[in-house]
Amino acid sequence: MTYTVALIPGDGIGAEVVAAVKPLLDDVAEREGFEIEYTEFDWGSDRYLQEGAMMPDDGVDQLRHYDAILLGAVGHPDIPDHVTLHGLMLPIRKELNQQICKRPTELREGVQSPLRGYEGGDIDFVVYRENTEGEYADVGGREHRGFEHEVAIQSAVFTRKGTETVVREAFEAAAERDGKLTNVTKSNAQAYGMVLWDDIVEEVGQEYPEVTVERLLVDAAAMDFVRRPEAFDVVVASNLFGDILTDLGAIISGSMGLAPSANLCVDGDAPSMFEPVHGSAPDIQGQGIANPLATVLSGAMLFDDLGEDTAGDRLRQLVDEQLADDSAPRTPDLGGDAGTDDVIKDLRARL
Ligand code: NAI
Ligand code: MG
Repeated sequence: MTYTVALIPGDGIGAEVVAAVKPLLDDVAEREGFEIEYTEFDWGSDRYLQEGAMMPDDGVDQLRHYDAILLGAVGHPDIPDHVTLHGLMLPIRKELNQQICKRPTELREGVQSPLRGYEGGDIDFVVYRENTEGEYADVGGREHRGFEHEVAIQSAVFTRKGTETVVREAFEAAAERDGKLTNVTKSNAQAYGMVLWDDIVEEVGQEYPEVTVERLLVDAAAMDFVRRPEAFDVVVASNLFGDILTDLGAIISGSMGLAPSANLCVDGDAPSMFEPVHGSAPDIQGQGIANPLATVLSGAMLFDDLGEDTAGDRLRQLVDEQLADDSAPRTPDLGGDAGTDDVIKDLRARL
């Protein structure tokens, strides 16, 4: 079996970790008896600086027929972040209908959490983030620039369909896991969109009597990610809240360099996109010290999505083994002094 994967290394450490991880993915695929045929796209900030666009006009269409997409990160210190995000990532997520962003948060054995008293296995939950609308809808405008009466309007969009899609997937996940769903909104202050969201959670919940639903306002949820992260199983949240909470989730489970993510097209035949949660990290770019494990674990989610779960499990097991071994190489974010390539070399040797 051969799968086609569109590879978008992107900017900064995104490109570094993707280049490092690719041979490991190939090794695992070969062992499991399948092959990946990559097509690499040199889209990103360098292209923007040369040609004025992060990707070509028909970029999203070029991606449509691949089995999956693997993205590093985008972001450049000389380009405003809204330009890089709106020029590449958001159009891909939206136009390929990747309505759900799934982000597991796990404190693995051998990893130090900044939370006192937490050890490997104590934190294990998954966030389902709505991924194509909500607060990231491209609806609004800015007028009268520079005048005292300058005005900007930014609207959030919540549709019944979009909300129901992510809520239903979250219930399905909770039913398969520990049977607990935490619904995070801010419906005291955002009394339209988020109240619709809460209503939909209530409605869909009727079909999952085995799932216990907890409701939290996002500010309380932020507190509880720190105070009692062990209490979460599946968390469902809007685009913005899910974005913020998953950085918090990444750091309580040890490092931004360990957090994977999947942008899933569940409703249609477009490919899903896999990427580390972290960005291009200009502060450590070019030093060869970026932690590649978030990308390895994103690769595992990509394999799962292709139906190659054994390969996905194999990758997760390799990462677990490496992290549990104190003598294994670790990048500085995990307290070590190893480089990106050392970590991958060690994983390949273990395989
Ligand atoms: P960031 O995630 O790039 O970095 C945050 C902090 O975590 C930095 O101190 C960085 O050194 C560290 N870090 C991140 N990934 C790491 C890794 N794999 N190994 C070791 N340390 C790691 O977020 P930041 O600094 O807010 O954004 C930098 C650029 O990335 C911006 O241009 C931003 O727009 C973009 N960005 C892109 C994302 C994407 O493409 N999905 C997501 C987040 C930010
Ligand atoms: Mg983010």
